[in-house]
Amino acid sequence: MADRKSACCGFSALEVTLGVLFILMTMACVTLITVMFTWKSDPAPAPTSGPTLPPQNQTYLIGVGRADCTGPPAEIPLMGYANPQQKAAGIHTRLYSRAFIIDDGGRRLVFVTADVGMISQRLRLEVLQALQLKFGDVYRQENVVLSGTHTHCGLGGFFQYTLLMISSSGYIRESIKPLVDGIVRSVDIAHRNLRPGRIYRNTGNIDDSSVNRSPHSYMRNPQDERHRYKYDTDKQMMVLKFTDLDGDGIGMLSWFAVHAVSMNYTNLLVSSDNMGHASYLMEQDKNPGELPGQGGFVAGFSSSNLGDVSPNIKGPHCTNTGQPCDFLNSSCPVGGAKLCTAFGPGEDMFESTRIIGRNIYMKAKELYANADQEVSGFLHFAHQWVNMTEVKVQVNSTHTVSTCKPALGHSFAAGTTDGGGDLNFTQGAVEGDPFWDGIRDALVGEPSNETQECHHPKPILFSTGEMNWPLPWHPQIIDVQIIIIGSIAVIAVPGEITTMAGRRLRDTVKQELQSQGSFQDVEVVISGLSNVYTHYITTFEEYQLQRYEGASTIYGPHTLSAYLHKYRALARAIAQDQVSDLPVGPQPPFFEKSLFNLLPKAAVDKKPVNSSFGDVLQQVYPVYRQGDAVSVTFVAGNPRHSGDIRDKTFVAVEIYDNRTGTWEVVHTDASWETRFHWLKGSRGSNATVEWYIPVAAPSASYRIKHFGHYKQMKGLRPVITPYEGLSDVFTVKASFYYQ
Ligand SMILES: *[C@@H]1O[C@H](CO)[C@@H](O)[C@H](O)[C@H]1NC(C)=O
Ligand SMILES: *[C@@H]1O[C@H](CO)[C@@H](O)[C@H](O)[C@H]1NC(C)=O
Ligand SMILES: *[C@@H]1O[C@H](CO)[C@@H](O)[C@H](O)[C@H]1NC(C)=O
Ligand SMILES: *[C@@H]1O[C@H](CO)[C@@H](O)[C@H](O)[C@H]1NC(C)=O
Ligand SMILES: *[C@@H]1O[C@H](CO)[C@@H](O)[C@H](O)[C@H]1NC(C)=O
Ligand SMILES: *[C@@H]1O[C@H](CO)[C@@H](O)[C@H](O)[C@H]1NC(C)=O
Ligand SMILES: *[C@@H]1O[C@H](CO)[C@@H](O)[C@H](O)[C@H]1NC(C)=O
Ligand SMILES: *[C@@H]1O[C@H](CO)[C@@H](O)[C@H](O)[C@H]1NC(C)=O
Ligand SMILES: *[C@@H]1O[C@H](CO)[C@@H](O)[C@H](O)[C@H]1NC(C)=O
Repeated sequence: MADRKSACCGFSALEVTLGVLFILMTMACVTLITVMFTWKSDPAPAPTSGPTLPPQNQTYLIGVGRADCTGPPAEIPLMGYANPQQKAAGIHTRLYSRAFIIDDGGRRLVFVTADVGMISQRLRLEVLQALQLKFGDVYRQENVVLSGTHTHCGLGGFFQYTLLMISSSGYIRESIKPLVDGIVRSVDIAHRNLRPGRIYRNTGNIDDSSVNRSPHSYMRNPQDERHRYKYDTDKQMMVLKFTDLDGDGIGMLSWFAVHAVSMNYTNLLVSSDNMGHASYLMEQDKNPGELPGQGGFVAGFSSSNLGDVSPNIKGPHCTNTGQPCDFLNSSCPVGGAKLCTAFGPGEDMFESTRIIGRNIYMKAKELYANADQEVSGFLHFAHQWVNMTEVKVQVNSTHTVSTCKPALGHSFAAGTTDGGGDLNFTQGAVEGDPFWDGIRDALVGEPSNETQECHHPKPILFSTGEMNWPLPWHPQIIDVQIIIIGSIAVIAVPGEITTMAGRRLRDTVKQELQSQGSFQDVEVVISGLSNVYTHYITTFEEYQLQRYEGASTIYGPHTLSAYLHKYRALARAIAQDQVSDLPVGPQPPFFEKSLFNLLPKAAVDKKPVNSSFGDVLQQVYPVYRQGDAVSVTFVAGNPRHSGDIRDKTFVAVEIYDNRTGTWEVVHTDASWETRFHWLKGSRGSNATVEWYIPVAAPSASYRIKHFGHYKQMKGLRPVITPYEGLSDVFTVKASFYYQ
């Protein structure tokens, strides 16, 4: 691995569909054969509160930091689509954690957005432990928000609940470690560069980059409520601009609601998808001359109420006939749900990612340039742990509703039009299927009548709240958290909340904050996929239809009511300056035992006879034109043998400077223009590096390098050895077409 001057990761609707069943069935066989599986189975006191009147001309201490959190891009399942075939085999773009620290002189808070499918409870707890070790009580669960961009092309393996462990081959140390280390490093960098600065806010609409993927569910919401909104997804982007006291920009943080699923489930390359690409473009723009992932300016693009929001704006079609899919159940007359797929604006998934990422970036850039509304006022934060299986909410004078033990419905296994399940499940199922229910009962047991009633009309596929072997299948304890930066309130939501559910939550929090007199000017945003992953949150009305999102609302039909209740209480505590009176709530478990890892150790590397690691198997051509793609293949080792790959690169594209006679790196594996593919075969593995030559690339001589490590046995001892490969020199000439 080459060191770079400086050089992460994600999931969606746990469109964990097929994967789970596939694995369950595989496990069923294992059960029969081996009888292995028996299925029967406080923090330091917060600084005392300051005055509630926002000071004029507020300046803050501001720190921004970005760090690589990419894990080994090989053999580990990608987190998001729950497609068992979708295992990492290379890098399209690297994954980063981006941290923003703000301090008002009395209080301090941290917001992190990481290129990861979601923040899991395990990941958050490990990060908080590491922050405690490094900074003592400065950064704690109440003043740290961790949010995922929801890329579906980051590594899995960072969960402690059984369902999510199953869908990512277990709890994988080599996968969670770079995430924890990367997030902590981004906070550390932000911490070290805290300096006085100002914050400005701006909002604007991105009209062309999102569609509702469950419009039928959305239509179930009351008409008068829908009529208050022009669209069935939230188009608004919110931007915070951070400057130093001279007015020079140091960073930007934004929120926008769209699934990071422009890359589809056939992709095997680690990628930050559309939101990560927006960060990439903005950072390249503000850090001129720097390689990707380097430079002081940090641009965070955070997820929001994206539960029912797809970037595949051409919408769903039956791939066999080109006809529209059934509106209610998103299935095709011939071929079922699997063939009903939504496509993005591009010719392929890379182009769709580029277009959506660019749209998001262009709007952010414009909003950033014109942000002149200064944010002032004190910082506030409130956090609570809640046992989400037993929240009771009084809806009127006679009626109390309750959340349920977690369970997933049949339509969970149908997946979505952004990535369907392989079996014959369809969305919108309000009745079970005797065939699958029979298999479930035989494998994991029947859901209790109590749970079935509680989740009605959801036909339960997995009664995860009643499955505890070898560890609970879903979390019971979740985080609710709000942070306030002067006139901006950020609601950290532990899952994927739909458009309308998110609007209700924002309104509730805003009303509560405003009702107390302060915070008249407050703008409320939802930060999705934060702190702990609990799948989806729909409205009660959307839930009734049991499309994918409703079937994945795991705490039952009143999940949203319960959240409204809990977040209202947080908002009230903040507005009344009584946060210290909030109960901390039941601490989540940190499992030490029974975490399982189904991922085999990376095998010893093989190579063709008479070759060496790094040898070229397929050479470049001598001459290319701007806009062409270069490809070169090397004898390679397994990238898992490269250990901690953060801030390194598997790839370098170098240009020859004929004045100085030296080679200079112009692209790494973090670059959009490069793709690093790792292919494993029975006779060894190889690495193909592709370079999509930009039309603006200077005409010159170039060469491509590949860096890696291979493992061999010396007697009984495994030995890891670094290697390097080098292509022939080739020339890039001005393109005939682009001149
Ligand atoms: C989907 O709904 C249509 C009617 O809208 C129905 O004809 C079809 O059978 C349904 N498909 C499945 C698989 O349930
Ligand atoms: C995924 O994208 C590729 C093009 O990049 C396309 O060939 C393929 O059909 C897509 N698959 C699905 C299921 O969308
Ligand atoms: C959550 O509440 C349920 C119902 O009261 C209880 O059985 C369960 O033990 C609680 N979970 C935890 C982790 O405290
Ligand atoms: C209370 O709410 C329940 C459920 O929504 C409803 O059935 C009942 O009529 C309501 N009662 C009153 C007094 O509004
Ligand atoms: C799914 O497939 C199974 C087995 O082929 C069948 O018994 C079942 O009825 C099917 N379910 C639906 C909803 O088509
Ligand atoms: C649910 O209730 C029915 C009838 O009340 C009973 O026959 C059945 O055994 C119960 N199922 C479970 C899992 O308790
Ligand atoms: C490997 O190299 C040796 C020595 O140059 C040669 O004798 C042998 O035939 C080569 N084997 C293969 C498979 O090319
Ligand atoms: C790289 O490895 C794959 C899988 O073994 C193989 O199919 C392919 O031909 C190899 N490529 C080259 C150039 O040797
Ligand atoms: C050096 O490179 C530049 C641009 O690639 C080219 O125009 C020039 O002719 C080269 N000079 C020599 C001495 O090769």
